[in-house]
Amino acid sequence: KIVKILGREILDSRGTPTVEVEVWTDFGGYGLAKVPSGASTGANEALELRDGDKKRFNGKGVLTAVANVNEKIAPVLVGMEVQDQLSLDQAMLDLDGTEFKKNLGANAMLGVSLAVARAAADELEMPLYKYIGGVQAHRLPVPMLNVINGGEHADSAIDFQEFMIMPVGAPTFSEALRWSSETFQALKSLLHSKNDITAVGDEGGFAPNFAWAYEKQDLASFQAKTPAEIALDLLVEAIEKAGYKTGREGIMIAMDCASSELFLEDKKYHFKKIEKVTGQKWAMTSAEMVAYLEKLVNNYPIISIEDGLAESDWEGFEVLTQQIGDRVQIVGDDLFTTNPKFIKEGISKKAANSTLIKLNQIGTLSETIEAITMSQKAGWTAVVSHRSGETEDSTIADLVVAFNAGQIKTGSMSRSDRIAKYNRLLQIESELGKNAIYDGFATFYNLEA
Ligand code: PGA
Ligand code: ZN
Repeated sequence: KIVKILGREILDSRGTPTVEVEVWTDFGGYGLAKVPSGASTGANEALELRDGDKKRFNGKGVLTAVANVNEKIAPVLVGMEVQDQLSLDQAMLDLDGTEFKKNLGANAMLGVSLAVARAAADELEMPLYKYIGGVQAHRLPVPMLNVINGGEHADSAIDFQEFMIMPVGAPTFSEALRWSSETFQALKSLLHSKNDITAVGDEGGFAPNFAWAYEKQDLASFQAKTPAEIALDLLVEAIEKAGYKTGREGIMIAMDCASSELFLEDKKYHFKKIEKVTGQKWAMTSAEMVAYLEKLVNNYPIISIEDGLAESDWEGFEVLTQQIGDRVQIVGDDLFTTNPKFIKEGISKKAANSTLIKLNQIGTLSETIEAITMSQKAGWTAVVSHRSGETEDSTIADLVVAFNAGQIKTGSMSRSDRIAKYNRLLQIESELGKNAIYDGFATFYNLEA
């Protein structure tokens, strides 16, 4: 039984306040969880409760959410059975009583939900992935490593938010990480050789300015190469420089366009960073965006595209999925916000073929499990993800193994808030020994063979 729950305000990887929760049980179980926070958030995410008191952290304090943990949630949950995750989450949902967690805050609820699961696992002296996933939990994920940061995550020259490498041809998870680390280093020396910036963005990927490439371009039109193409060229070069192939036997590329951030009032996608450099309007309609993405897929070893269209552009998502969904993973992040209600709609509309899973978008472990199960039952993939604001908490590493999800998106080969998840997966891999499996390209079981 739960005997004590204690929340407090701590800081995330951007130095912004977030919620930490500790849970104790009568049989000596102890659980600790720290909640992440997004920057390019979806409009339908559950509420991240912030104080709004401008005198503290520019209004971003979380003392109200912490008080909700200590004064509202704790009195209801203390005394309940720690292993009864469904009832514990439901008790919080009932207490909150709103669709988007507006009363308690999803940050308060998720902190408790995860700390409770950890305390239950600890009481049983089990690792978290085994407590949640049971004996079936032995699949290590293919990592999506965000090595070039753009959009809202870095002051780089690229409007698309993320360019990621996926070592689908590696034989094991640890080898996949080695390939990725070597490619990251090769990319760094490439940028260095072009006198570009090697400082990193929020998720640990480089944030280049591409000054060397822009000099040779027709700036007014960007007809030669768009910044996304320059980034993709660089990635291909880095992969080869590190000694790997591109494609199924080697390393493939994933993108998160985070297009909700580009979609402005006139129903066009605006490339604001290109506009800043050129001083001219540079925008695309939804149909032009689909054609542009298809062109990128035809010219580069791209296997996954997240938020290629904006969260309100369901029609665009449907067209994109129809056009290239048989050979490319089409991931909905802002589109679904890990919410079973929207995932269900997406499945019936064939608006994607994969769901991005971010626990704090929905707010409880039980609802997260429902979102993953629903996706997998529909023949979709599910990618377990960090947020751009993170902590050293590595819970998602255990969860991706527990859920048999097969893919994890948790940043680049730098910043300890990102590496903590990879290191935890290395620990799990060695603990599983020869029972550990790594699917590689087969993780895309719903794409063309
Ligand atoms: P966020 O970005 O955590 O800032 O929302 C991550 C993503 O868009 O996938
Ligand atoms: Zn995203």
